Amino acid sequence: MSSVTRILLKEETLDPSFVPPRLVRREKELELTFRRYREALGKGLPYHLLLTGGVGSGKTALARRLGRDLERGGRLGGFPVKIAYVNCWRRASDRTVMLDLLRTVDVSLPDRGYSLSEMLDVFEQGVRRHPQHLVVLLDEASSLVRQETKLVYLLTRSHEVELGSISLILIAVEDLLPFLDPASRSSFGVTHRLSLAPYGRDALTDILAARAELALRPGSVERDVLDQIARIAAPNGDARFALEVLSGAAHAAEDAGADAISAEHVRRAKGSLLPTVSETQLETLSTNQLGVLLAISRTLKRRGGSVPSQKLRASHAALLEELRAPAMSRTTFWRTLKELDRDGLVTLETAGSGESSQVAMDELPASYLATLLEERLGRGRASKG
Ligand SMILES: Nc1ncnc2c1ncn2[C@@H]1O[C@H](COP(=O)(O)OP(=O)(O)OP(=O)(O)O)[C@@H](O)[C@H]1O
Ligand SMILES: [Mg+2]
Repeated sequence: MSSVTRILLKEETLDPSFVPPRLVRREKELELTFRRYREALGKGLPYHLLLTGGVGSGKTALARRLGRDLERGGRLGGFPVKIAYVNCWRRASDRTVMLDLLRTVDVSLPDRGYSLSEMLDVFEQGVRRHPQHLVVLLDEASSLVRQETKLVYLLTRSHEVELGSISLILIAVEDLLPFLDPASRSSFGVTHRLSLAPYGRDALTDILAARAELALRPGSVERDVLDQIARIAAPNGDARFALEVLSGAAHAAEDAGADAISAEHVRRAKGSLLPTVSETQLETLSTNQLGVLLAISRTLKRRGGSVPSQKLRASHAALLEELRAPAMSRTTFWRTLKELDRDGLVTLETAGSGESSQVAMDELPASYLATLLEERLGRGRASKG
C-alpha cells in the first residue's frame, strides 16, 4: 500500500482563527492580565486594557485566550463573565460595531433610525437582562479609533450598568492613545496598557513546536526544521507567518509523498509565500557568487537547512574541479560568502570565533536554484568554447 502519508492530521488547529489551548512564551502576560481582570471584576468594577504589538505578535491569540479563561473561571462577584469579540477592520464605524455588539447580547435592531446613544441604552438593557460581566474585545481597532470614535468613550464610561460591568479591550498594531479623547485616555493608564514584544527565534521555535504537536503526525517534523522556519520568520517576529510556512511545508511534504517535513519543503513553502529571488537578481551575480551559490544549493538539496562553512568550501572546490575552473583562495571564498549574505541570498551564522560558521539558504528550493544555476554556468562554459 503506497498511499500518501498524512502529515497534517488536524489542519484546523493551524488555522488563524483557532485559539490555541496554550500560549507558549506568553504565560507571564496571560497570567498578569488574567489576575487584573479577576481582581477588578470580583469587586464589580470594569477593567480596560489597550493591547498593542507588531503583526503576528500574538495579540488576538492572547486576548481570546484571556477571554476564554475568564469565561471558564466561574462567577466573579456573583456574575458570570461573557466575551463579545468584534473585529473592527471592516466595520470601522461606531454604528456598525455597535450593531455587532447588540447581537452578542441577543438584541437585533434595524440598521437605521437609532442614534448611537439610543443603541447603547438598548445594549445596556440587553446586558441587564442577563446580569453578567461583559468584556468587549475590539480587535483591529486602529481605523475605528482614528475616526474619532465616541464608542470607546461611551463604553468606558458605562459602569453604571449596576448588574455587572462592561470592560473594554482595545487591540491594535499601533499605540492608540494619541487618537483617544482625554477622558478615554484616562481609562488606559500605565497598568492598563500591554505592549507585546516581537517574538525572537527561540520563542518562534517553541511556538512552532507547540502547534506542530497539535496539528501534525508525531515524528513528522524535526526540531531543526522548526528552527529553520523560526529563522525565516524571526526578522519580523511574526508567529502567523511562521505558522503559514509550517503549514505550507507540511503540504509540500505530503504532496511529495514524503513522510516527514524536510528543509527543502520549507524552502518550497517559503518561496511560494514570498518569492524573494528573481531570475533578474541572479543575472546580476558574478561567476564567483554563482559558483558558491550552486555549491550551497547542491549540498542543501541533499540534506539539511544549513551546512558548516568548512564542508561547503570542500564541496565548492569539488565543483570548481568539475567545471574545470581555477581553484579559489580561502579569502576569495569568504569574501564571496559575505557578499551573498549581504545580498540576502544566504544567511551566515557564526557559531563562535573563526570560520566555524553555518551557511543557510532559505530563499528558494535548492533543487530549483541548482537547476537555474547549472543552466547559467553551463551556458557560460559553452560560450567560452
Ligand atoms: N504564544 C503563542 N503560542 C502559540 N501560538 C501562538 C502564540 N502567539 C501567536 N500564536 C499564533 O500565531 C498566529 C498569529 O497570532 P495572532 O493572530 O494573535 O497575532 P496578532 O498579533 O493578532 O497579529 P495581527 O496584528 O496581524 O492581527 C495565530 O495563529 C496564533 O494562534
Ligand atoms: Mg490579530
